[in-house]
Amino acid sequence: MNTEIFAPFDLKIGYLTPKNPIALAPMAGITDSKFAAQFTDHVGMVVLGGYNLDELTNEAAQREVQRGRREFITDSPMEFLESELQAITGEDTGTAVMVNVRAADIEAYADAARLAKKYHAGIEINAHCRQPEIMELGAGESLLGHLDTLREIIETVRSTGAVVSVKTRANVVDDLEVAKVIEQAGAHIIHIDAMGGRGADVNVIRKIRNNTSLFIIGNNSIVDFSSAKSMFSRGADMVSVARAVINEPNTLRSLVDQVTSEQMLTGWYNSPKHICGGGDLRALTFCCLPVKPCAVHNALKQIGMTAKEFTRLKLDFVEGTPLEYGDSTCFGSMAWCCKISKPCFLRDGVMEVVGVSDVEFMQIKKRMSEEILSHRKN
Ligand SMILES: Cc1cc2nc3c(=O)[nH]c(=O)nc-3n(C[C@H](O)[C@H](O)[C@H](O)COP(=O)(O)O)c2cc1C
Ligand code: SF4
Ligand code: SF4
Repeated sequence: MNTEIFAPFDLKIGYLTPKNPIALAPMAGITDSKFAAQFTDHVGMVVLGGYNLDELTNEAAQREVQRGRREFITDSPMEFLESELQAITGEDTGTAVMVNVRAADIEAYADAARLAKKYHAGIEINAHCRQPEIMELGAGESLLGHLDTLREIIETVRSTGAVVSVKTRANVVDDLEVAKVIEQAGAHIIHIDAMGGRGADVNVIRKIRNNTSLFIIGNNSIVDFSSAKSMFSRGADMVSVARAVINEPNTLRSLVDQVTSEQMLTGWYNSPKHICGGGDLRALTFCCLPVKPCAVHNALKQIGMTAKEFTRLKLDFVEGTPLEYGDSTCFGSMAWCCKISKPCFLRDGVMEVVGVSDVEFMQIKKRMSEEILSHRKN
């Protein structure tokens, strides 16, 4: 697919501009530059690594290998990292590159970040690995239990000017507290393995969407567009895939094709489910006139807005847009109309008369959702 003439997404994370919201997730010992290069003609982002940045993490990885795990091991971590960055960024494919890293020493993170930036890549702090050898060094998932250290690492890495992501695992500690530390310390991205009891816990994505402005990469058990959509519709900006790529290497291509056609058909690839269907607060844009007892009232309470203020805001917003029409719809204006994927002959009839397309309808709804949330008081 030629991205120069076909670029339906408008994603920007610092100096990174992924061409679409599908990413390859890191798998130590597997996702090096050579492996990732198989996907750069189609995916929006590749996350390489996890690379071990110092002697201690390389020794720890060596011990893991002795018990059968795969790892990237090297005597010269920074030279190895640079050669990997050189190899993957040699050709401009429009795919954003991140390097997932672990270290026992804070300066190693900063050195790696400077290298990543030099190659127009971003750095991902691994706060996810739960191998005991890595955790004993205070790296990987152990950072989730030491948020002051995590904060210090993020701030140090951020001061290099690099784009910063933090890879976390859900349901280990308080996910919201972690996300807030990540945001306050200046990281751009939270890449969250939404590991739940059985498969992915998508509620954790919604919680983070509702309470931070971080770019969210949702991860865990994504095998097809339906599993990807369940994260997009809770507020993920991007989704990443690890194991399914090994089982079926075409998974990423198929996800790119499907999310691209969703974007072309609706104009809002990660639009939320309705609030009453489990969607995040962006879904207030699809809510009815708040006249009956339902979940909208709790959502309004969360953003500190009264029903009256909400009503005024939506009506003011649609004024002068095609959505102000809709006498024959449930509440007299398409300001209150449901998401385009919900079949409704009343709304579709008005849309036809006023000449508004599905994409235009959804784009206005998207802007309205941004407007509503820009007025939140909580
Ligand atoms: C073999 C293997 C190695 C992994 N290594 C890393 C790693 O180095 N860094 C990291 O952040 N996550 C690592 N992960 C976790 C994945 O990136 C991902 O979060 C996890 O597998 C859940 O996503 P999935 O359901 O798409 O596989 C690894 C996963 C696997 C299966
Ligand atoms: S206002 Fe309508 S869409 Fe919103 S939560 Fe209530 S019933 Fe659902
Ligand atoms: S007219 Fe249709 S789309 Fe609009 S609020 Fe009623 S059911 Fe929803």
